[in-house]
Amino acid sequence: MIKSLSLRSNYRTLENYTYLNQASLGLISEKTTQAMHAFLDSTGKHGNAFMSDEDEVGYFENLRKKASTLFNCNTENLAILSSASDLLNQIPYLTSPKNGSQIVLVSSDFPALYRPWQAYSKLNKIKLKFINENPNSDLTYNLINSLDKNTSVIVVSYVQYSTGTIVDINRLKKETNKFGIKLVVDVTQAAGAIPIDVNKLKCDALICSGYKWLGGHGGVGLAFLSNDMAKSTPLMPGWMGATNPFNISFKELDLAPGAKRFTQSTMSYLSLKGLEVSIQEILDLGLEKIENHSKKLKNYFISFLSDIGYQTFHDEKIYSAPHIVSIFSPEKKMYTISKSLSEKGVFCSLRNGYLRVSLAHYNNQKDIDKLLSILEDYGSNKSSS
Ligand SMILES: Cc1ncc(COP(=O)(O)O)c(C=O)c1O
Repeated sequence: MIKSLSLRSNYRTLENYTYLNQASLGLISEKTTQAMHAFLDSTGKHGNAFMSDEDEVGYFENLRKKASTLFNCNTENLAILSSASDLLNQIPYLTSPKNGSQIVLVSSDFPALYRPWQAYSKLNKIKLKFINENPNSDLTYNLINSLDKNTSVIVVSYVQYSTGTIVDINRLKKETNKFGIKLVVDVTQAAGAIPIDVNKLKCDALICSGYKWLGGHGGVGLAFLSNDMAKSTPLMPGWMGATNPFNISFKELDLAPGAKRFTQSTMSYLSLKGLEVSIQEILDLGLEKIENHSKKLKNYFISFLSDIGYQTFHDEKIYSAPHIVSIFSPEKKMYTISKSLSEKGVFCSLRNGYLRVSLAHYNNQKDIDKLLSILEDYGSNKSSS
């Protein structure tokens, strides 16, 4: 019997529901929720009566330290954003690709990665090259094959949100180095579920949202920026990105040293507090242990699938991450199945026609059994209306 890795009582939703949906809106733990409540009651709601200018700046620094530990980077390279999209939208301007050069993207990647480039290409002469992700093929290989001396930037998710495909960043990096291509990686569907060490992933930027596998609430994003990227001028240099946001002169554009300059404005301090606590919970559990736990659940889950009429996007385990499993049935309508699952209190997501199952540290074998029993009801011999 596979037990949960973390305490299930820390996630009240699990008392009534089977939650296999961390890749969508992640569950927020009781510990994190209580810290957010306490912050709001003791400090947040009292305005400046209980919160000085220095305190406000301090909330960012607490989170910056915690997130730097998670990514194993210096605090100077860690940006705090209001979302992953906040920085993804600036990437075309920060990487300033040469006229006529090519940008490589994945057609089924999360739209926040490619939409900024579609907008940029309306005003600038660049070519967008979309790579398709195919079942049982090596996405990393296909990405590498598409690069040439005319490629200036590649933007890709480390783990693909709809299929769980994992991109081998180190293999990709070797090729981008050859041509001097900028490599921007979104780790929203990876951070908090598998270890991430920026020293091993050496990208120009690594961008992450806070409300999925990191267990935070919406409204905060994080990014590791290379030294060069951290020195660049933000496209949207808000006032919070100044050296001292509470003492700015009009005489010149003062930008804080390092990645700190990328914070634009007053943020939800409640969400900053929440993310600080939830990252500590993840660090306490240990990322290797979290990863291994997902692997166990995944192996268990997929061992029953073909018998009940389903297939995974990838048969080959090497192409996919342990914590996101996307399944389909050649004969069944996944939309109907997904609807029926949520009616029965089992939450997964339907993404690009696949049923996406998230396997988090709080999940256990019973969760998988519950999912399997409903999937089986729609199994190979039953009708598929
Ligand atoms: C890979 C990826 N990147 C970014 C986002 C969106 O992040 P945000 O809402 O913080 O912009 C998502 C949301 O699903 C995602 O899956």
